[in-house]
Amino acid sequence: VTDTTLHALGFSSLDQEVEDVQLPVDGALPDWLTGMLIRTGPARFEIGAQSYTHWFDGLAMLHAFAFAGGEVRYSNRFLHSRSWQEAHRSGRIARGEFMTDPCRTLFGRARAIFAPRLTDNASVNVAMLGNDLVAMTETTMPIRFDPFTLEAGRHRPLSEAVRGQITTAHPHVDGERSYSYVIDVGLRCAYRLFVEDRGRQRVLASLPVDEPSYMHSFGMSERYLVLTEFPLRVSPYRLAFSGKPFITNYRWQPERGTRLTVVDKETGGVVARAAAPACFSFHHVNAFEADGAVHVDLLAYPDAGVIDRLRLEPLRAGAPPGPLPRLLRFRVPLDGFDEHAIEPTALCEVSFELPSIDASRRGGRSYSRVWGVGLFDRASFIDSVVKIELTDGESRVRRWHEPGCYPGEPVYVPRPGGEAEDDGVLLSVVLDSAARSSFLLVLDADSLAERARATAPHHIPFGFHGRHFPRLTRPAHDETTGEP
Ligand SMILES: [Fe+2]
Repeated sequence: VTDTTLHALGFSSLDQEVEDVQLPVDGALPDWLTGMLIRTGPARFEIGAQSYTHWFDGLAMLHAFAFAGGEVRYSNRFLHSRSWQEAHRSGRIARGEFMTDPCRTLFGRARAIFAPRLTDNASVNVAMLGNDLVAMTETTMPIRFDPFTLEAGRHRPLSEAVRGQITTAHPHVDGERSYSYVIDVGLRCAYRLFVEDRGRQRVLASLPVDEPSYMHSFGMSERYLVLTEFPLRVSPYRLAFSGKPFITNYRWQPERGTRLTVVDKETGGVVARAAAPACFSFHHVNAFEADGAVHVDLLAYPDAGVIDRLRLEPLRAGAPPGPLPRLLRFRVPLDGFDEHAIEPTALCEVSFELPSIDASRRGGRSYSRVWGVGLFDRASFIDSVVKIELTDGESRVRRWHEPGCYPGEPVYVPRPGGEAEDDGVLLSVVLDSAARSSFLLVLDADSLAERARATAPHHIPFGFHGRHFPRLTRPAHDETTGEP
């Protein structure tokens, strides 16, 4: 009989913070691997006697792995957001999170309505926006931080024109430019897509909506942005006045179907719309133009039930989070006809989450390699790294798996000068339940053969996303840019 709660350590709080410690390495890191992998994720699930409800709720911690000369140095630190500071000062959960609401008293509820104190607990993703390294959640208050000390700085504000309360933690960064959207919830709700170019933000399109959809990411091809609305919708009145935790205000309305809106990145014009059967997704994988259509690939669940399955209580008890989503392709014709009814096609048999592609070279273009995490051994939590080769007709799958080990998002790092789409390595933080600690796993991105593992001094609670920044180097070692 297998213990179905071996992974539960990944949902327990971590107190220890370390600064720039060298990790013992088994195997050999590629000599070309430089820069830093920086990740965010929840690391404190209780404040005093109160507990957060959902995996997405815990207070964020940053983890940084710095690579140089075949060595790995590691730092971790709680993100000193306002949510974190207030919780520490008061000894109570201070701000409403995804599925946790601290406003128990009538007074607290009234205050929340008239001066909503949105969370800035940036536990979802990190990004380089302009010259700012930020941690993000789904409110419009990303937090700048120092990559070397992991010290939090000020919020990075949006311009007046881009106002909104809800956003995505998955912006698309394209060189100097980045693209994202906000959701403005008010008497009249709107999705506002915007571009930031050399520090200047400009609204591309403002799309009115009666009941906004819960969306975690969006698609981007070379010429277009694609907003995919799933039928998990919220009444703005309920969101403002219910006094209930954020996501519990949303209602599953499958009759609304899934709606895709394609917006031109230059003009902001809506060039196509399509309606598809109801589904739910967190992650778009890629989008590209081919054969007179925009192909939109995303990881789809049949409905939004996964949100409830990712509550801490069932996850810790060993209830499976699955079934995981499948990779579907939606083809939205670009023929000027406004509203197409379309059916997606499944690109492969295997189901997986936390997708990764060669974004720097294949993002927005046709591609054939996807990595992610999967459920292998009828596990009660994600227990394998998967690679899918998308080819016409048939897909090929490879898998990395080790008993008692639970890997996180595999971040793809291309080998400099490499040509092939899988000529590089994957970086994944893995919980080793037997050792009661985590390690950074370095896999060959093509074969999924292990190249090295670097063991951290403690367990690293399961996080969501991170990014590899090839040019981030500690100032003491930095002879190229001269930057402080
Ligand atoms: Fe995500």
